[in-house]
Amino acid sequence: MVGGGSTYTPELIDGFARLDATVDELVLIDPAAERLAVVGAFARRILDRYGHPGTLSWTDDLDAGLDGADVVLIQLRVGGQAARISDETFPLDCGCVGQETTGAGGLAKALRTVPVVLDIARRARERGDPWIIAFTNPVGIVTRALLDDGHRAVGLCNVAIGLQRRLAALLDVPAADVTLDHVGLNHLTWERAARVGGVDRLPGLLDAHGGELADLVGVPLAVLRATGTLPSYYLRYFYCHDEVVAEQRSAPSRGERVAEIERDLLALYRDPALDRKPDLLAERGGAFYSEAAIGLLGSLVGTDPGGVHAVNVRNAGTLPNLPDDAVIEVSCRVNPSGAAPLPTALPPDLAGLVAHVSAYEELALAAARDGGAERVFRALLAHPLVGQADRARGLADRLIAANAEHLPWA
Ligand code: G6P
Ligand code: MN
Repeated sequence: MVGGGSTYTPELIDGFARLDATVDELVLIDPAAERLAVVGAFARRILDRYGHPGTLSWTDDLDAGLDGADVVLIQLRVGGQAARISDETFPLDCGCVGQETTGAGGLAKALRTVPVVLDIARRARERGDPWIIAFTNPVGIVTRALLDDGHRAVGLCNVAIGLQRRLAALLDVPAADVTLDHVGLNHLTWERAARVGGVDRLPGLLDAHGGELADLVGVPLAVLRATGTLPSYYLRYFYCHDEVVAEQRSAPSRGERVAEIERDLLALYRDPALDRKPDLLAERGGAFYSEAAIGLLGSLVGTDPGGVHAVNVRNAGTLPNLPDDAVIEVSCRVNPSGAAPLPTALPPDLAGLVAHVSAYEELALAAARDGGAERVFRALLAHPLVGQADRARGLADRLIAANAEHLPWA
């Protein structure tokens, strides 16, 4: 686990401890050695509590940690919460949403992150032939960078599994019985169906619980009704853009709150008597990441083949209006040979928005890989939440100024 010193790590460890005894060696890798020691010791206590048989170690030596890994999970955050707070605030000056994965903030994160992730993946490949599970945002762009570079990689997000659990609870059936038709791009997805025993129960759920589901994702009920889908809560930044900008201008950023939660979590993790994940961890956005990761991992390494997981993969003809080499997030059947999208389709309104953002992602990746102020400007011009030339220029200037220390070309 690269970024193993993250305060999120206990979420994943809790999953391994409870659900997956097949993992025999876990290595947490992180350059922040002191924090890593705190998280590592706490992880050890969680594994012991459940009697997990695997070994656990931690190191700040990336190459040593990657050596011989079958699977590498990457969950890092270049620049920490300070960079995130910047992503969430600089776009507001130009009247645009401030978010760490969407719009100009997401582009800033991509520019900081892609080179670092590619370096890690290349080093991993020098020491083995691992599957790479990319949790690192922006997951769609990061996954595309990894695949373009020839790695065996899938991108993972917890939006789909969170909605699957919620819909299963409303239907009063086990979560495993609900198969979603989840489709779009990472953080730009819709549930088009929720099948139980082959029967799509989503229309009934939207009729009976539409208001509750609209509140859950923060998107107007009219949108759920018009599209016949359940959008993810990241669609709020599109369907309610100006409203979100107004809210963000008068409230502290999410990154500031997360920095507080992280301080408190680390204080709890230091307590030698604590051997289970604390309730405070549920205030982070990572609910069910452990279940998602362990399910996916089991299907990739073959202990649980054939599972359906919502992951980021090459389009390869799944959505005919996108290039084959675009990366989409879609329900897939997953085996050791890889993730194969289940058949799906998009109506014109969703297909148009997906194509627009996918084109932005292609240009964003070019900017992340090759650098340059003009590539940043062009990517922003292509983003549906930016579009206008003066805004794109203003955002590009602010993005580059705020991130210069992380951008070798700036
Ligand atoms: C969800 C998203 C992740 C994102 C997280 C943010 O889990 O799927 O991609 O990183 O929320 O949570 P946070 O607690 O950092 O705001
Ligand atoms: Mn996500």
